[in-house]
Amino acid sequence: MPFMANPIRTIDTIQYSATEADDCRRFREKVLSWYRVHRRDLPWRRNPTPYRVFISEIMLQQTQVNRVAQLFPPFVRTFPSFKRLAEAPLAEVLRHWSGLGYNRRGKWLREAATIIHRDHRGRLPRDPATLVALPGVGKATAASIAAFAYDEPTVFLETNIRAVFIHHFFRDAERVSDGDLLPLAEATLDREAPGQWYSAMMDYGTELKRVHGNPTRRSAAHKRQEPFEGSQRQVRGGALKRLIASSVPLSAKALAKTGGFDLARTQRALDQLVAEGLVTATPEGYVAGSS
Ligand code: ADE
Repeated sequence: MPFMANPIRTIDTIQYSATEADDCRRFREKVLSWYRVHRRDLPWRRNPTPYRVFISEIMLQQTQVNRVAQLFPPFVRTFPSFKRLAEAPLAEVLRHWSGLGYNRRGKWLREAATIIHRDHRGRLPRDPATLVALPGVGKATAASIAAFAYDEPTVFLETNIRAVFIHHFFRDAERVSDGDLLPLAEATLDREAPGQWYSAMMDYGTELKRVHGNPTRRSAAHKRQEPFEGSQRQVRGGALKRLIASSVPLSAKALAKTGGFDLARTQRALDQLVAEGLVTATPEGYVAGSS
């Protein structure tokens, strides 16, 4: 068997100190040596062009990695560039967004593509301050896009990254705040290769949660997702899905009947979808997309 320098197979509970420079270096080496052996082969990491990074980071905001890994490849095959995405009708983009949830993100993504195509000559900006002005891009997403697309040494937190820091630096603490974690993110960042560093932290965090349970319950930023079943989000998602699939406009009554929710809730969902710009009310009934 070829010699291997002690690859880390399981994730231990060693504690590091944020104020010790040596500890930050040891921690970084531990995460990177684990990653060299256990890195996940995810579709957006193959050929990580700025376009592919941008699309994947928006998808990964609120959708699980496995789901995104399935839906990302057909999406970028259909819309291979900012230009093609900007030129596609909204209903078409929403159809390919289907299954990712939180459909407003699909609309924002197309609007962002329009801005990038029109104002930035089709090139994704690398400055987080410019990225954050795009629809659907918050501060953390702007920072992660700049790190993954351009290896910018940005500092940001994300759920798996929080988990790693809490596990290795805050074993006995409760309600750890982002204010406690951000200096740590700054001190431990591998400035030689920020994109690889953040991929390593996310993969390590995912495995850590699987082995040790989720330490981000002790993060002050931790939020439980509301149950989907029976939620207004479910009524909205179902109505939009049926409108996308329909070749003719549909009435609120028809949508209530096929959706299995009462007319009042269905009407409220449609009103929200119209207000969000995902659905248009026409004299013949509702249609997906904008007019
Ligand atoms: N979550 C957000 N961005 C991610 C990425 N690039 N890889 C894995 N999980 C992520």
